[in-house]
Amino acid sequence: MASIDRRKFLLTAAGGLGGLGLASCVDTAAPLTGIGAEILAEVDANGIHLRQNIYCMKDTHPDLVAYRKGVAVMKTRPASDPTSWEAQRAIHWTTAPILPIVNECQHGTLFFFSWHRMYLYWFERIVRAAAGAPSFALPYWGYTPTGQRDLPAPFRIPADPALNPLYTASRNAAVNAGTPLTASAVDPAAALALIPFTNFQSSLEGTPHGQVHVAVGGWMGSVPTAALDPIFYLHHAQIDRLWEVWLAMGGGRANPTTPPWTTDIFEFYDENGNVVQMTGADIVSTVRQLCYRYISCSPVAVDAAEPVDAVDAQTAAIAEPISRRPGRVAAEPLADAQVGVRLGALPLSVRVPLSRGAGVALRDLEAGRGGGNDVFARLDGLVLLQEPRVFYEVYANLPHAPEQATYRSPFYVGSLDFFGVPVQGAGHAGHVPDHAGHGRRLSLLRVYAYLRSRGLWRDGDVTLTFIPRGYTEGAEPTRLLSGDQAYIGRIAVAIQ
Ligand code: C2O
Repeated sequence: MASIDRRKFLLTAAGGLGGLGLASCVDTAAPLTGIGAEILAEVDANGIHLRQNIYCMKDTHPDLVAYRKGVAVMKTRPASDPTSWEAQRAIHWTTAPILPIVNECQHGTLFFFSWHRMYLYWFERIVRAAAGAPSFALPYWGYTPTGQRDLPAPFRIPADPALNPLYTASRNAAVNAGTPLTASAVDPAAALALIPFTNFQSSLEGTPHGQVHVAVGGWMGSVPTAALDPIFYLHHAQIDRLWEVWLAMGGGRANPTTPPWTTDIFEFYDENGNVVQMTGADIVSTVRQLCYRYISCSPVAVDAAEPVDAVDAQTAAIAEPISRRPGRVAAEPLADAQVGVRLGALPLSVRVPLSRGAGVALRDLEAGRGGGNDVFARLDGLVLLQEPRVFYEVYANLPHAPEQATYRSPFYVGSLDFFGVPVQGAGHAGHVPDHAGHGRRLSLLRVYAYLRSRGLWRDGDVTLTFIPRGYTEGAEPTRLLSGDQAYIGRIAVAIQ
């Protein structure tokens, strides 16, 4: 307690963030030109650092050159140095702590976005100092479902850790060979459609966040080692950027404005190895408070692909008013089934009976009686029966054979990722953090609205279909996986 108070005092005495040399950082309305080509500027006319898409960078781009150098320098530093590669990884998670600030990462909590934004901010400053490149900005890995989604070439070529500080052999071989990730695993559309902050955050934490972690595999595939892979930080810059994309979509999308989101204090190390503290209130504006923004080199900014087919006027007329209302404090259960389902290499459907009162409750939700902004399925008691080789696209009330399902269909409700899910029987290498309590929440609102608007919704049950997919394109689940991969204990359906 005493040491926290002392650190708080030191930060205040230094004038908060203003005292950390950010005073020159002001907002700008003027967008940079040069769209469609490589942008060489690293900082705009107002001193705002530009985080750019790695796919647009030539090998000689100053940010890429600086990242290579910064990573190499940090890797030579001892783990006891707070600005070392190992110490930065350990802030996220480690099983062998050395310094006091370790195992801080926020997964499945209210602070997933905000904590990772803070973490990247201080990491970026450390890279800047280590590389001797004051204008460096962290590139982002701009994967999109309709565009590029291979592991960026500088991270896999040359495939030699002695020559390339961005390379590691630990990753999945197909990813290191440049095979594109599967489109549905990187598509944030289902998340971006959600208006309540926590619903959006937990959906994006699954897809693309968790999916990309496990798809890259190796160090990235597990929480304690994830931040050892240099692609980790570019992946998280993309997640941070998608948070900005979501805010810019408007329509009621907003960050929390109340404690604890705005007030909980998190600690990091700065580029001099000093302890620094931040709260949610310090990181709301990347431009005004943190001095960076994202810039796209692409003439067509395809973040979430084109809208899912189901986003039509009839569906929106039901779903949108609901999603703009305040959520309920307590979820109202419509179903809670002990399913004990085992997922393997073939599609599987599970029928979940709804309670007698479900119809009335859903009409109330639609009419705004009693509030509530979502109807969702919750998959609980998730356990991996072996290391994940596939993930599952999840559909609700699919009217046709799974073979015909495409994830752009109105019946798609999201994908099931396995980042942070424990593997049954695996040795316990220290405490592994919970990712959303080993459960996953998938919104059923859109499929409900789609079916209701067409008179096709039935109040008696919901059938969820799990369709296995390889993490990389063209990978056949039946070739990747033998036996069962995952177990789901319970499936609940609820209004909140
Ligand atoms: Cu804290 Cu993507 O992990």
